[in-house]
Amino acid sequence: MLDTDALLEAARAARGYAYAPYSRFAVGAALMDEQGRIHAGCNVENAAYPQGLCAEAVALGHLVLAGGQRITAVAVVGEGAELVTPCGGCRQKIREFASDEIPVLVGDMQSQRARFTLGELLPASFGPGHLK
Ligand code: THU
Repeated sequence: MLDTDALLEAARAARGYAYAPYSRFAVGAALMDEQGRIHAGCNVENAAYPQGLCAEAVALGHLVLAGGQRITAVAVVGEGAELVTPCGGCRQKIREFASDEIPVLVGDMQSQRARFTLGELLPASFGPGHLK
């Protein structure tokens, strides 16, 4: 059974490290791997704006470096009126290591606000299978 609270809490803790002096929009993300381990990340912006990294991308780097091979659940945490869902590029980055069915939890510092599947967020996606 997925511990959604633990995944969201990891994303919240990571958000506390966000380096976002330009947007002032802090994001935290947490990815669960196939071994049940959690890998977290925060956004890391740059004075050369397009070089900034999303929280999900930083978390993905941690997962791969730890030997993780699959993403089984995702949590993204940010504050604001709108749901902080993964950006389009991050949906594709997650998709490389995940199936359509995995949950993507979206929350703020207090609560979970929504739950999607990756397939809902990135339907009819392109992936590694297309290259075989
Ligand atoms: N951001 C993320 O970290 N993840 C997302 O999925 C959405 C956007 C970051 C990028 C940038 O540092 C800030 O939020 C504002 O766009």
